[in-house]
Amino acid sequence: MSAGLRRAREEDIPQIEALITAEGLPAYGLAEYLETFFVLDEGERAVGCAGLEIYGEAALLRSVVVAPERRGRVDGRRLVEAALAEARERSVRRVYLFTMHADGFFRRLGFREVGLDGFEEAVRASRQYEAVSQIPQLRERVKGMALDLGR
Ligand SMILES: CC(C)(COP(=O)(O)OP(=O)(O)OC[C@H]1O[C@@H](n2cnc3c(N)ncnc32)[C@H](O)[C@@H]1OP(=O)(O)O)[C@@H](O)C(=O)NCCC(=O)NCCS
Repeated sequence: MSAGLRRAREEDIPQIEALITAEGLPAYGLAEYLETFFVLDEGERAVGCAGLEIYGEAALLRSVVVAPERRGRVDGRRLVEAALAEARERSVRRVYLFTMHADGFFRRLGFREVGLDGFEEAVRASRQYEAVSQIPQLRERVKGMALDLGR
């Protein structure tokens, strides 16, 4: 069955949480950022998600997950492109993220690797930046990445 990409709704939160935690990713603040989350919906089931936290002209892309059995069908790219379109719509100019294993995937979408000092001030307020900057074991495992939306 092909999955439809749509904005997340409140009733999706438990499924989004399950997708994210199954990958060991942080599932904080889903209700808070729901307005800028997207899901891939296959009937009653969410099989993918991606979210944005917006900090003025910058944003953090987070919670990009495709269910393991659906990977390799360009759903991940579709989810990220929906989030980036939303970012542009909201006048965001630069998008940042942290990833452990998917840097190759994000590189294909135009992101480049940046160190913690490459994250601009506004995004440093995010919980992810705080955690990565404060926990050395986490810092060793994640890569920071950035994309200029070019406006
Ligand atoms: C990363 C993830 C979302 C990719 O989803 P997907 O639907 O399999 O990806 P797509 O099919 O859209 O892939 C798009 C392109 O990226 C490539 N790609 C996918 N995963 C990749 C990876 N881990 N490393 C390098 N390239 C990758 C694909 O081969 C494809 O390349 P192409 O354009 O040359 O054909 C998925 O593997 C996942 O959920 N991983 C676990 C969660 C995670 O690590 N999320 C990122 C942290 S927020």
